[in-house]
Amino acid sequence: MKNNPTNSLQDQINKKNNELIIAGLPLAHIEKLVGSTPFYVYDKQKINDKISNLKTLLPKEITLHYAIKANPFPSLVHFMSTVVNGFDVASKKEMLLAMQSGMKKEHICYAGPGKTHDDLQAAIIAGVTLHVESTTEIESAIKLGKALNLKPNIAIRVNPVFELKASGMKMSGGAKPFGIDEELVENILTDLNYQEINFRGFHIFSGSQNLNAQAIIDCHNNLFALAAKLIKITPVSIDYINIGGGFGIPYFNNDSPLDLNPIIQNLEFLIKEYKQAFNNIEIIMELGRYLVGEAGIYVSKVVDKKQSRGTTYLVCDGGLHHHLANSGNFGQVIRKNYPVSIEKKKPDPTTNKETVTIVGPLCTPLDILADKLTLPKASIGDYVVVHQSGAYGASASPKDFLSQPDVYEIFI
Ligand SMILES: Cc1ncc(COP(=O)(O)O)c(C=O)c1O
Repeated sequence: MKNNPTNSLQDQINKKNNELIIAGLPLAHIEKLVGSTPFYVYDKQKINDKISNLKTLLPKEITLHYAIKANPFPSLVHFMSTVVNGFDVASKKEMLLAMQSGMKKEHICYAGPGKTHDDLQAAIIAGVTLHVESTTEIESAIKLGKALNLKPNIAIRVNPVFELKASGMKMSGGAKPFGIDEELVENILTDLNYQEINFRGFHIFSGSQNLNAQAIIDCHNNLFALAAKLIKITPVSIDYINIGGGFGIPYFNNDSPLDLNPIIQNLEFLIKEYKQAFNNIEIIMELGRYLVGEAGIYVSKVVDKKQSRGTTYLVCDGGLHHHLANSGNFGQVIRKNYPVSIEKKKPDPTTNKETVTIVGPLCTPLDILADKLTLPKASIGDYVVVHQSGAYGASASPKDFLSQPDVYEIFI
């Protein structure tokens, strides 16, 4: 379904003539709090609302985990530990952050390929659950557990034969570095010595940034069938099945928000259908971007305005080094503009607009904040705000590229 262009995210922002308030404060006040532009602001209330709304919609059998990789800002992660049931971590550093946030170790799951002995050992000592991605990881975890005299908590991340169609990033189906191929799992389950480990369950994460409800439904149908099969052939009882997530948020014109209703209805159906197979087994949904992406903005300031052969450039103090995804260099094939707004430093009653290309301070043509957007006329000193920036922002950007100043972050 395509959006009416007049209802695009971009237009929705531009229609608000009044001051942008985020986390209850005007931008100028936030700038004074953090010190200077550029900065990210993450709005606690918005995240809280998003999560409580999702929790009321999800079937009660489903528990919610937050994937820290989406936004690992420590105070945000601490807050998340009070509103979700568990964390997905993808490195030892994220694991330590999760532990220190107060999340119980039973609810921390450590996934991701290439875990070193140091990573595995730390996870075993911490008592979190390793989502193993290969047979090597299983063997190493067992060996290290014996040496430490501790039983590793292990769940198998499965790479199913099916994929999550229409995803921004597909992470299952075909050859993948993630998880153990579905067809190899049966033998592993037969060979495992369940005395040496605490076997917890299965993790099936199929993709990210999906706005297509039918694709998610199809994936869930396949996933529940596979999970039931795995449960049946596992000789011990398990604690959970992690069904992944993949829920996306709209970034670009013509993106429509994900319609959760059919997905939830289908989940309710699947939970009933597989009630016996899933008896006493927790069903975990693991989301990152969907929970935090819309609650963050990236704010920079216009430091120069210049013309070049018919193009008006706004040059800002922030760019690609803080917000790689917005520059189009984090997985986009053709660059599209995130929703961007100009926030005037001084109130401006005029409604004059102009078409501008907004760039950052890096000496590379890749450093684009917005390309050929028609926005309220901006002056040096005005703010340029990139919306939908709460996920895969600061931590997913090459902050040291060209040695520009760091970005500030605030969670309020
Ligand atoms: C294993 C795993 N879990 C969770 C996520 C989070 O995905 P998203 O932020 O799209 O919800 C990812 C993203 O790559 C992932 O690889």
